[in-house]
Amino acid sequence: MIFDILTIFPDFFESPLQEGIIRRALGAGKIDVNIRNIREYALDRHKMTDDRPFGGGEGMVMKPEPLAACIDDIVSDGRAYKVIALSPRGKQYTQQVAQQLAAEPRLILVCGRYEGIDQRFTDRYVDQEISIGDYVLTGGELAAMIMVDSITRLLPGVLGCCDSATNDTFSRGLLKHSQYTRPREFQGQTVPQALLSGNHAAIEQFRLTESVRLTLKHRPDLLAEAQFSSAEKKMLRQEGLLDAIQDINQAP
Ligand code: ADE
Repeated sequence: MIFDILTIFPDFFESPLQEGIIRRALGAGKIDVNIRNIREYALDRHKMTDDRPFGGGEGMVMKPEPLAACIDDIVSDGRAYKVIALSPRGKQYTQQVAQQLAAEPRLILVCGRYEGIDQRFTDRYVDQEISIGDYVLTGGELAAMIMVDSITRLLPGVLGCCDSATNDTFSRGLLKHSQYTRPREFQGQTVPQALLSGNHAAIEQFRLTESVRLTLKHRPDLLAEAQFSSAEKKMLRQEGLLDAIQDINQAP
């Protein structure tokens, strides 16, 4: 996967790309990240990337020409690509969107700043506007990095354990169960007995019911998408959770 990130703050990405799994994925050639400084594509001698909005109003708007020139330059190699603009008014980013985008060969991420990007650039160049949540950041850089991070870990061979991503929170409409490690006792608190039992069926049952309880408590909206096998339904019925799930899904 190739990521091209268009930004006026290229240094922003230095440290996050040099840590942990992302660093390893870069080293192993699983991803390639090209940071493109929009300023280098500005046409005037002051290297302006923004200007005042037509019609007046607060703040500055990102000019279309440097962004267009940058993309025209990047895509001249003829490879397939998708252009995404990071913006609080975009479509909500979710694990499902991350999974869809992980199948693309190349993503061009445009980091907006100020009051937004000239709409004519968006209309002509952008395939999708994406928001990472209902809050406003000072710019799209953090959002772009979040996309790079969440997509990279879904790429084949990036995570050490082959099923780490398939067991993720959200991957099946459930939040992930709680985890415990040594010591067996911490400040008087023990580890749930099922996890110490060595009994795989008991462990699976504990984890599934934990997941469902947590999802009911924090994100009941997710349960509309969750599917359960008949064995799982039996376990959930035993724990009195199946009715709670059905009540939620039948709520108007
Ligand atoms: N830029 C500013 N806020 C944003 C958000 N919530 N998501 C994506 N890009 C943004």
